[in-house]
Amino acid sequence: MNALTLDVRNVTKRYGDGETAVTAVRDVSLAIQPSEIVLIMGPSGSGKTTLLSMMGALLHPTAGTIRLDGTALSDLSERQLPPIRLRQFGFIFQDFNLLSALSILENVALVAELAGSKRKAAREKATAILTELGLGARLDFLPEKLSGGEKQRVAIARALINDPALILADEPTANLDSKIGHEIMRLLRRIAKEQGRSVVIVSHDQRIRDIADRVLWLEDGRFKDVITMTTDPVCGMTVERDRAVSVERDGEAFYFCSKGCREEFLGRLRSEDMGGCRSAVLQRAGSVFAHLASGARDGHASD
Ligand SMILES: Nc1ncnc2c1ncn2[C@@H]1O[C@H](COP(=O)(O)OP(=O)(O)OP(=O)(O)O)[C@@H](O)[C@H]1O
Ligand SMILES: [Mg+2]
Repeated sequence: MNALTLDVRNVTKRYGDGETAVTAVRDVSLAIQPSEIVLIMGPSGSGKTTLLSMMGALLHPTAGTIRLDGTALSDLSERQLPPIRLRQFGFIFQDFNLLSALSILENVALVAELAGSKRKAAREKATAILTELGLGARLDFLPEKLSGGEKQRVAIARALINDPALILADEPTANLDSKIGHEIMRLLRRIAKEQGRSVVIVSHDQRIRDIADRVLWLEDGRFKDVITMTTDPVCGMTVERDRAVSVERDGEAFYFCSKGCREEFLGRLRSEDMGGCRSAVLQRAGSVFAHLASGARDGHASD
């Protein structure tokens, strides 16, 4: 697997012609970097699935270009696209598209075999991924015997099996309870960060904001304001910069999840300040509070 950049430039998608034409995506541009987790949110019908489908080369844009590390996907023929979809993209879509006549192990292993793996290696890898996702006891089950959440996890295993550079997920937690949903999101984050893969998630699920590096809001086919995430230096939580409680000191801005964290930060600065130079204290702020992050996260109370 190579770390690849996906570059979307001035992409528009129109369905149909004339009076009944629907412009689902309008002149959208964005670039996804390796290891980056981007969350795309927005109301129903705003064009999220359409955009994700174009990013994964499942749908041709009406205008604009999508480049995967410099190669324009829109210039490739239908015959050239399947190997790219198979090896570079891992899709986790709303309708799982599992093959009903195959066991879940076969559903996942098949995708590796299609990409060139030997049968035995494909089955071993599929077993390992399914087991990691908590489905080790279900390997021989047909999809119809699984719950919605379990099917979702099979779809995730299938998306991961060929070590794709980009994982594209449409509402990946829609059928999952809160605990499993959170675990799946943490797993996706670990995969992105440890293995240099990019993850693009379309979702209404506010909890996913915690794992995203960037949140984009799509409305009527266009991106509205870009939401920048940052880390609270006291508790380590990911916070939305524009909505966070903030404080500025010596030209540097700090953002917090709550007034409580800001007060703790200022209190510590004041006590540090008594003993030394202010700018040195500010420089050290990150490390001073870093050790608090893990411990404070669990017992953290916001106001
Ligand atoms: N194949 C199609 N033919 C015609 N119009 C379509 C088609 N697919 C989607 N649309 C229209 O394009 C617009 C965007 O649809 P899309 O599925 O991308 O939205 P979405 O943001 O994913 O919505 P949801 O949150 O409900 O899944 C909608 O108005 C939809 O009706
Ligand atoms: Mg959709």
